[in-house]
Amino acid sequence: MPHDLVIVANRLPVDRVTNPDGSVGWRRSPGGLVSAIEPFLRANHGVWIGWPGGTEQNLEPFEDDGLSLVPLAMSAADIEDHYEGFSNGTLWPLYHDVVAKPEFHREWWDSYVEVNRRFATAAAEHAAKGATVWVQDYQLQLVPRMLRELRPDVRIGFYLHIPFPPTELFQQLPWRRQILEGLLGADLIGFQLPGGAQNFVRLVRQRVGHKTHRDLVYLPDGRTVRAAAFPISIDAKGFATLADTSSVRERAAEIRTALGNPRKVFLGVDRLDYTKGIYARLRAYSELINDGHFDVEDAVFVQVAVPSREQVEHYRVLRDDIERLVGRINGDHGQIGRPAVHYLHTSLPREEMAAFYRAADVMVVTPYRDGMNLVAKEYVACRSEDDGALVLSEFAGAADELRQAWLVNPYDINGMKAALLEAYHAQDSELKRRMKAMRRQVSTNDVTAWADNFLNTLAEQHEVRQHR
Ligand code: F6P
Repeated sequence: MPHDLVIVANRLPVDRVTNPDGSVGWRRSPGGLVSAIEPFLRANHGVWIGWPGGTEQNLEPFEDDGLSLVPLAMSAADIEDHYEGFSNGTLWPLYHDVVAKPEFHREWWDSYVEVNRRFATAAAEHAAKGATVWVQDYQLQLVPRMLRELRPDVRIGFYLHIPFPPTELFQQLPWRRQILEGLLGADLIGFQLPGGAQNFVRLVRQRVGHKTHRDLVYLPDGRTVRAAAFPISIDAKGFATLADTSSVRERAAEIRTALGNPRKVFLGVDRLDYTKGIYARLRAYSELINDGHFDVEDAVFVQVAVPSREQVEHYRVLRDDIERLVGRINGDHGQIGRPAVHYLHTSLPREEMAAFYRAADVMVVTPYRDGMNLVAKEYVACRSEDDGALVLSEFAGAADELRQAWLVNPYDINGMKAALLEAYHAQDSELKRRMKAMRRQVSTNDVTAWADNFLNTLAEQHEVRQHR
């Protein structure tokens, strides 16, 4: 059945898992994209097209917990070349300030084109006449143009969840022009920050030669495309309500007891990704113990590392490095029954996350580069008593809005140590002042405001096109 609202994302919000007894189940997919778009789709009754994980080929559209889902199959070769290859071996590092070296392979590109075409075809099949199709993220940048060729009647929005790089870095990409032209198939292209939108418009002017004015691009066929910033957010009310339930409060108290009731609990929650700066953050923390600022009676660090992209070599090496470091820190500083760092390599359900946020005095979010980082916003939303400290990287998109966090440069270990220590010693009045302001920011600019703002702007932009 065709739908008036179609979400197209590389992944479905649920991953297909085979249980030990051979039965098949569905598990929530990791990452900020799913946490942001899922509540929005639930409220708006559209359909979501995406890969369900794995290589199963014969999957039919299905409903899961009130969501209409259309699984798009990928073969082992698609996963290797489109997902692990071009998406996560080329674009991911390139768009994250080349924190790792991007690899450029022509066969990866060919697969990216082919898989994007399949997504565009599926979107064209499921969109009703005049529908809104909202394409998500870097894995699908060619879809807008391909879809426009198939279905000129639909309204197309594109949103990039990760940073859009500086022009100097983007220009390394052998297929830079095709990517820019692919995106220009949309009526509206959304970025996390104004800088990303500006980089894009500049590149379009320089590399494709279209006329531009501020956030508008004028195409030779008469269309106008807008490129602007829409900082993504979370279901702030949902998190705040959840964090205030008695079961979450009790669980938070239980967690603190299990940790030995230290004076302060530090917390990190990240997909296990090299952009997240987990290693450097743990090193900074361990140096504070080394330097005698506190011991395991005073403070513990809980690091939740959510498994991610485990077939990619870089991610495997990172996991080994981090786990070796955690072992060393605990060997050097832990006591029997009292590790200095509690390390969990797992994905936790929302309720458990809320309990961890409640239990933590200092939330440590120190990526080298991050589109937004929704964990920082989730922590803030859960601090209903206006306490708790946020140590946040300047290079996370969230730093633009959460100005009252302790902002750090994750490359500067001494600077991070100083900020962690300040947060550890901060007075209640100081914590309150900062947290209150951040909570106001997050509750006003929540995910509903974000989606409404994007879709209203898309509707206006589409109108402009109709009336030209
Ligand atoms: O937010 C960035 C992002 O890459 C999303 O597109 C993705 O769903 C999420 O992180 C998790 O990554 P992956 O789908 O590769 O597991």
